[in-house]
Amino acid sequence: MAILGIDIGGSGIKGAPVDLDQGGFAEERVRLETPQPSDVTAVVATVAEVAGRFSGVERVGVTFPGVVQNGVTRTAANVDHSWLGAPARDLFTEALGLPVVVLNDADAAGIAEMTYGAGKGRKGVTIMLTFGTGIGSAVFIDDRLVPNTELGHIQLHGRDAELHASAQAREVEDLGWKEWAKNVQDYLRELERLLNPDLMIIGGGVSKKAEKFLPHIDVRTPLVPAALLNDAGIVGAALAASQA
Ligand code: BGC
Repeated sequence: MAILGIDIGGSGIKGAPVDLDQGGFAEERVRLETPQPSDVTAVVATVAEVAGRFSGVERVGVTFPGVVQNGVTRTAANVDHSWLGAPARDLFTEALGLPVVVLNDADAAGIAEMTYGAGKGRKGVTIMLTFGTGIGSAVFIDDRLVPNTELGHIQLHGRDAELHASAQAREVEDLGWKEWAKNVQDYLRELERLLNPDLMIIGGGVSKKAEKFLPHIDVRTPLVPAALLNDAGIVGAALAASQA
């Protein structure tokens, strides 16, 4: 029986059965466009469609790009506001007819990196950051997660940090990689000032282009790209489902 991970992103909803021994996909991933508007009904239907493409599924982990507490979605910075206070776990469980765990997308990616990737075996405080439509964060002490940290929304130069340093901000403001790297550097230095981590991991879609911007970032904390690249969310979601 397979455990499926599904990652709800700003532009795509992606899912795959996960091989938990290897920390990779057991079958080819399916990606569908995130419905616009990304309201609860439409997204639940798309997630069910992704899950329906696979057979022999035993349980499912679903990531959400906002705060998730006890299966209820609490914030919706980059998705439709119908998600505020939505009983996500119950809605997915009903639509899929399977046990479902719902967790924050960056927390899922962080769990995967700490288990299989760039944070494996690391002690102390690790901050995993995902740069995409927004900025997601996952904070660990050794391999223990502090969930729902939302460090993408600290203030930087008087505005929300993700408006300054997310991958979307690079596109919206038409910045070159080097220019954008300076914004990311400002952001990382602010996190260092506040949290003094031992390691920072850069994930999200941009992690596959790490060579374009990481060399331009000067911070005192060891800084590494995510090893699972953009697959970490799906893998971490399945891992969380397996442990629930
Ligand atoms: C949300 C986070 C999420 C991140 C990445 C932010 O806008 O507030 O919960 O992890 O985007 O999707």
